[in-house]
Amino acid sequence: MIKIGLLGCGVVASYGHLPAIVNVPGLSLTAVYDPNAERARQAAEKFGAAQWFTNPDAFFASGIDAISVTSAAPFHKENILDAARYGKHAICEKPLALEDSDAREMIEAMRSAGLMLFTGFCYRFSPSALKIKELIAAGAIGAPKSLRLIYDWDCHGKYERDQPGPLKINERRAGRMYEGGPMIDCGTHQIDLARWWMGDVVQSTGIGAWVDNYEAPDHIYMHMDHACGAHTLVEISYSHGYTAKEPRSEFVYEIVGADGVIRYDRNAQSFDIRTAAGTQTLEWHHEKNFEEMYRAFAHALETGDPGHLPSGEDGLLATVLARRGTQEAIERRPPHKG
Ligand SMILES: NC(=O)c1ccc[n+]([C@@H]2O[C@H](COP(=O)([O-])OP(=O)(O)OC[C@H]3O[C@@H](n4cnc5c(N)ncnc54)[C@H](O)[C@@H]3O)[C@@H](O)[C@H]2O)c1
Repeated sequence: MIKIGLLGCGVVASYGHLPAIVNVPGLSLTAVYDPNAERARQAAEKFGAAQWFTNPDAFFASGIDAISVTSAAPFHKENILDAARYGKHAICEKPLALEDSDAREMIEAMRSAGLMLFTGFCYRFSPSALKIKELIAAGAIGAPKSLRLIYDWDCHGKYERDQPGPLKINERRAGRMYEGGPMIDCGTHQIDLARWWMGDVVQSTGIGAWVDNYEAPDHIYMHMDHACGAHTLVEISYSHGYTAKEPRSEFVYEIVGADGVIRYDRNAQSFDIRTAAGTQTLEWHHEKNFEEMYRAFAHALETGDPGHLPSGEDGLLATVLARRGTQEAIERRPPHKG
């Protein structure tokens, strides 16, 4: 059994990482860490970790083999530098760090310690995303030309919903906007998918729209040209119905090739490929898959083979593109826009 320790017992750990670690054969959830004792204790109790800690040194000395970092982005750097110091392989949530120079330092610290560092882009491990990769590689739609990767939603809303009394700003959404906004937070998943499906990006640009009042655009479009000749549009919104009582979201992947189109729609739960031969319905799966990601992590820890796991560099490249696109959008914001 490979003994896993997890740092950061918050929202994504509770619904994604902790259940996945517990369910993957070969992995054993041995210890959890959170500076908030109540969260650490509750996570250990709920997911059966033998030990919980509020002291990072005691956590790292608890006999774990590898770690999962699911703390908020500003703490990833200290968690990964500790992992390098204590000699633990790691998988780290996106974005790897708030500054690209910090992400580079984390990658270098792990590399020089001879350790593996992966970025937790769990979208790659949806069977639907894996199927798209397989179909493109097999030439099922001919040469890919155009990708549209859309995720428009409200990031949990501008205000706390269903709360009595005066409207209260939703700190969760506000935090993500202050960390750089939708392209750096969610969009890094789509940028990673585009790079993984289509290969290197040779040029990119970002354009924004401001529905809300943050420095970063809350609705943003990234255009990326790939070395293979394909073009990707990533559109991400955190203000799509952000004040609506009943917001709607849109989550779509569309890959247009010279000889066909693949379309995945999360909300409609549809996934198909249309070519001259006709339409083939494909098996629809949720866009995230933490369990498959941890199966790949277990395999990498056993064999050293990363399989489809995104490297630290993949995580860095996605945030470099996202940050650059967001910065360009801010710089080209016309003065009359808000
Ligand atoms: N892959 C996905 O689909 C997905 C979804 C949501 C969030 N995320 C990412 O996961 C990360 C966590 O997001 P969240 O929504 O769960 O945040 P959260 O705020 O709910 O949880 C973060 C936890 O980290 C703890 N923490 C604070 N300082 C720490 C430190 N120094 N070391 C370790 N833990 C510390 C906090 O006490 C908290 O319990 C973010 O990077 C976010 O972008 C990914």
